[in-house]
Amino acid sequence: MKDVDVFKRLLAIVEKYRRESHAGTFLEYRDPAELAALLDLERGEGREDWQMLFEWVEKYLRYAVKTDHPDFVNRMWSGASLPSIVGEIVAAVSNTSACTYETAPVSTLLETYMIERMLHIVGFVGGQGQMTTGSSNANMVAMMCARNLHDPAVRTEGVGRGALAAFVSADAHYSMDRAANILGIGLSQLIKVPVDDHGRMDMEKLEGRLEEAVGAGRRPFFVAATAGTTVRGAFDPIEPLLALRSRYGFWLHVDGAWGGVAVLGEQLRRRYLRGLELADSFTMDFHKMLGLSLICNVLLLNRQDNLFRQALSAGDGSYLFRDDDGEGALDFGPSSLQCGRRVDSLKWFLDWKFHGQAGLAARVERFLDLCRHAEKCVEQHGELELMAPRESFNLCFRYRWPETEANRFNLALRTRLYRQGISMVGCAYIDGRLVLRLLVTNVAWTVADVERYFESLIAAGRQLAAEWPAAS
Ligand SMILES: Cc1ncc(COP(=O)(O)O)c(C=O)c1O
Repeated sequence: MKDVDVFKRLLAIVEKYRRESHAGTFLEYRDPAELAALLDLERGEGREDWQMLFEWVEKYLRYAVKTDHPDFVNRMWSGASLPSIVGEIVAAVSNTSACTYETAPVSTLLETYMIERMLHIVGFVGGQGQMTTGSSNANMVAMMCARNLHDPAVRTEGVGRGALAAFVSADAHYSMDRAANILGIGLSQLIKVPVDDHGRMDMEKLEGRLEEAVGAGRRPFFVAATAGTTVRGAFDPIEPLLALRSRYGFWLHVDGAWGGVAVLGEQLRRRYLRGLELADSFTMDFHKMLGLSLICNVLLLNRQDNLFRQALSAGDGSYLFRDDDGEGALDFGPSSLQCGRRVDSLKWFLDWKFHGQAGLAARVERFLDLCRHAEKCVEQHGELELMAPRESFNLCFRYRWPETEANRFNLALRTRLYRQGISMVGCAYIDGRLVLRLLVTNVAWTVADVERYFESLIAAGRQLAAEWPAAS
């Protein structure tokens, strides 16, 4: 097949998928053995047979979870915006590494341009930034910058001398534990501060933990506020953390992987992110609520020196990076964890230009309205109960069931919804109780979709209740 025919065939398949993926169910569930048989993975290798490849492409799409389907409310993202898909395709076709200007001139300028936009929006005057492979890595790089600033010798000598202490809320994302592990801080040096009834970090408790750490000869070097916790959607208050920072001298990072999108709208920002412009670092994902295809993240530092390079570069002087011709100063590679760097900036730039800041902020406001409506639905349906006060974009609820079996019942309900292709919703535990976590991230969702979602969930719940305990 000629290139042109490959592209034509592919575009026809992809266009059909986009057109039809809303019809029918979000998943044609097959158990792993059935699916393996259908995929027929042992079929011939080395035949250069496009027909065979396209059969796999079609099967891949057929049995994929249709994440842009209205019944997929499982994750912090759904589907992908068209401008970002275009960016992905072009980046794949031109295939380069965004680590130097030399190999990725346009992408380097696009990434620089978008980072400057974000620094301006966030209010980090003269700051620096980079795209990372997601907020998990961004959180680690932020902790690493804080560690190296606090103790520059750690870069060569290791962490052991004089224990460092980092602080996050008990509801912070697990990537913080990973970061503490990878960076040699140690899990027991990552102090989990209890949260209040709303899931926000308790400031008095934090102060107590800071005092204890100092008293024990440890040095508090890093505190992370979560802007939109993973399960409850709570925002740790930034302003009281700034006051504590001036006393204890730690680095204040804001993990806005999920709720950092509030920075795009004036009202949202006032409500959720007061004081952000004075934090030391901030990360947010464009691949979650904003609908860009995975991965699209930015990490910003609120400082004018070259800390990214100081903290991250190591052993890279021999072949790749050049400062001699001036353009080397633009390279993202020396201040990144990776050598090969995907071009994520093109889709970011195209999507930004397509929707604009105001368009993206309006999308976030709409999601918030829909989540408020979902909250009302839960309150109105006697069979459902809210499991945590709604803080922002997350709704934690469950099907009412006697406490002793409520976890098992709700887990069985979730599995039934998934396997029958009715809907896919996330679940999590709050204080040992299983909750269903609804996240509205589908741009196509309307009030009617919210109501339809709960009706189908309740219908499945009633059916399960009628079969219980046999169905347990
Ligand atoms: C609060 C928070 N931080 C960090 C992350 C990790 O983000 P990523 O998937 O981009 O690594 C998540 C993911 O859900 C999150 O909810």
